[in-house]
Amino acid sequence: MEANPIPVVTVQTAPYDDQKPGTNGLRRKTIVFESRRNYLQNFIQSVLSSIDLRDRQGCTMVVGSDGRYFSRTAIEVIVQMAAANGIGRLVIGQNGILSTPAVSCIIQKIKAIGGIILTASTKLGGPGGDFGIKFNGANGGPTPDSVTDKIFQISKTLEEYTICPDLRIDLSRLGRQVFDLENKFKPFRVEIVDSVDIYLNVLRNIFDFSAIKGLLTGPNQLKIRIDAMNGVMGPYVRKILCEELGAPANSAVNCVPLEDFGGKLPDPNLTYATSLLEAMKAGEHGFGAAFDGDGGRYMILGQNGFFVNPSDSLAIIAANLPCIPYFHQTGVHGFARSMATSSALERVGKVMKVPVYETPVGWKFFGNLIDSGRCSLCGEESFATGSDHIRDKDGLWAVLAWLSIIAARKQTVEEIVRDHWARFGRNYYCRFDYEEVEPRAAFFMMRDLEATITDKSFASQQFAVGNHFYSVDKADSYDYTDPVDGSITKRQGLRIIFSNNSRIIFRLSGTSSTAATVRIYAESFEKDPSKHNREPQAVLGPLIAIALKLSQIHDRTGRRGPTVIT
Ligand code: G1P
Repeated sequence: MEANPIPVVTVQTAPYDDQKPGTNGLRRKTIVFESRRNYLQNFIQSVLSSIDLRDRQGCTMVVGSDGRYFSRTAIEVIVQMAAANGIGRLVIGQNGILSTPAVSCIIQKIKAIGGIILTASTKLGGPGGDFGIKFNGANGGPTPDSVTDKIFQISKTLEEYTICPDLRIDLSRLGRQVFDLENKFKPFRVEIVDSVDIYLNVLRNIFDFSAIKGLLTGPNQLKIRIDAMNGVMGPYVRKILCEELGAPANSAVNCVPLEDFGGKLPDPNLTYATSLLEAMKAGEHGFGAAFDGDGGRYMILGQNGFFVNPSDSLAIIAANLPCIPYFHQTGVHGFARSMATSSALERVGKVMKVPVYETPVGWKFFGNLIDSGRCSLCGEESFATGSDHIRDKDGLWAVLAWLSIIAARKQTVEEIVRDHWARFGRNYYCRFDYEEVEPRAAFFMMRDLEATITDKSFASQQFAVGNHFYSVDKADSYDYTDPVDGSITKRQGLRIIFSNNSRIIFRLSGTSSTAATVRIYAESFEKDPSKHNREPQAVLGPLIAIALKLSQIHDRTGRRGPTVIT
């Protein structure tokens, strides 16, 4: 206990009008947090004030970061403000490091009131990069719009915040640190926990670790290559895959979390995880995986760089859940996917007689479905899968799910994917991202496109591209009614669904820190196995042509093509 009580100070501030959280938390250029007066403090105060004072007093919160630049500074401020605002205990990962799934898992385990995660996921780190603040609730998952709206409302009129500026903690020292404060909320405790242990124990009870260990060791071992992309996942990969499950130490690369991720985007896709792709193409490894900055997302590659599309990965895991012991105990109640994710999951749900829910983009929409026991497995096309073991996306869980499937089926990644297509058909899928578009151009393009596709005459439209014909079956601006609480979320993207099961979707990203990002998603279905070997972009070419023509995106934004294709 400190000798003298630590003072609690109230600081006058001026509100900001732009602290509205996006698809998942508040994302801005790091410099905005660093240079705009009290930008961080205002938002943290708004988050803390959104929790009812009675619930806040003496409660526990979890804090973690993906290790990116500015995280340590932000954690210090969060600790000082949490203490001043009556939070009783903070549980923080050692050196501030906790993956998003680990935070979700710890919130549940210790029955915390919620958690703050400092990350901008796949975005660049460093002073010139992005920074983000996510707030997860008591169920462990991203808070719903009702909470983020409340935070935003508070932020718009905030005039003061409270803080204990003299309170200092040692982020590197495991164990408890107790502080006596000069207010009625005392004492204040901070507990520094190992970044991996609690999460590892949860995984141990989900998977058959000895089966995975058998796969990764011994004379016929599966050679794997795991790229932690210098994000938060390094310590998890080393401890869980190498130390615990026996993968050789040299299977894991880029395992030191760096503040700027080594100057690269920690984005596990074919555009940014190129060193993994190159290594896999050499043919020596049978399984490859990469993670994003905070460990929610993952990409799977097979031998010779065989790419597993994330929507397929979700459907394949769904079809193979019996390979994971956890589901023998819990059963499989339902599946969920975001509306932008391919409908491959529906085909599995149909065969397994399991309901499949469609939600808007963003993990927060899965929370109610899982909490109410309706959903056991969910995912998004943005390289994210998760299950009801926690309430956030979980990249390492997905990797262990894949290794469990390979161990049980004794097949290669490519064989598993091809068998899946042969059984369920193949959903060809791709996403075009137009990044850094001028926001007004993006806004007006979407507004006009919405007017076009929601016009009555559009419902009977037919399109011909070469010898391909598409008839519009349904076109709308997607509104979602939550089946659990009945809440309605409007205008979540523009959908054009054709009668041959093809789809085009347009939406504006909710995670851009500056400018706008337009996403165009295209999907078509092919049942015939003799046609499963084609390049997705070639198959989807006619749909993309329709999308470009309808939106006029190149004319409207001055762009010649997408920045990234996944
Ligand atoms: C993106 C992804 C979405 C994911 C979100 C947060 O959001 O598309 O699936 O949930 O990041 O990680 P967007 O930028 O599209 O709004």
